[in-house]
Amino acid sequence: MGSNMYIDLYHVSLYVCVCAVGLTGTKYGCGGGGCGACTVMVSRYDPVEESIHHCAVTACLQPICSLYGAAVVTVEGIGSTRTKLHPVQERIAMAHGSQCGFCTPGMVMSMYTLLRNKPKPSMEDIREALAGNLCRCTGYRPIIDGFKTFCNKEQCCQNGEQRVKCCLENGFTHNLDDNVKLFRVEDFIPLDPTQDLIFPPELIVS
Ligand code: FES
Ligand code: FES
Repeated sequence: MGSNMYIDLYHVSLYVCVCAVGLTGTKYGCGGGGCGACTVMVSRYDPVEESIHHCAVTACLQPICSLYGAAVVTVEGIGSTRTKLHPVQERIAMAHGSQCGFCTPGMVMSMYTLLRNKPKPSMEDIREALAGNLCRCTGYRPIIDGFKTFCNKEQCCQNGEQRVKCCLENGFTHNLDDNVKLFRVEDFIPLDPTQDLIFPPELIVS
C-alpha cells in the first residue's frame, strides 16, 4: 500500500522559500503579518508607467505563486559584515538600534525600501515605513535616531512641541547634536543610490 504526498505550492510562503535557499537573515516572528520581522523588498516593473515599484512585504504572508515577474531582495542582498554594510545597516547599528537583533533585518528592509522609493524621506515617511515593524528591546528611539539621519535636517530634529514637531516651527535654533551623541553623522557611509542592486533587466517586459 502506497501513500501520496504532494506540496500545495499555492500556500507556500516566500519566507519558506528564502529559508530553503539558505537565506536565514529574514526572521520569523508571528507568522501572521503582525511583527515585520520577515520583511523583504519586492520590486516589479510597471509597463504602463515604465518604472519600477519597490514594496516592503511580509514574507510570511506572501505566497510564492504571487511573485511571477517580481524581484525579491532580502537583507543579505544589501550588505553584510563580511563584505560591506549598507548605510541603513550601519546607522541602525551605530545608533544602538539593535539589541537582540531579531527585529533588525525587518527594520532594515523596511527602511531600505523607503529609501529606494524616496532617498530623502521625511520623519513622517519613516514612521509610516516602520509602522509594521515591532521591536521588543530598544523602545524604538535609537532606531529612529539612526534612521532619521537620512532625512533633510530641516524636517526631523523633533525638538519642537512635545518632541514631535521640528523646532524650526517654534522659532528655536535647530540643533541635531542633542539627538546624535552616539555618532557623528559625517562619519557615516553616505547613501549612494547608484550602488544599490539594479532591477533584473530580464524582468522588464512591456
Ligand atoms: Fe511576523 Fe512575518 S513573521 S510579520
Ligand atoms: Fe530585539 Fe528589536 S532588537 S526585538
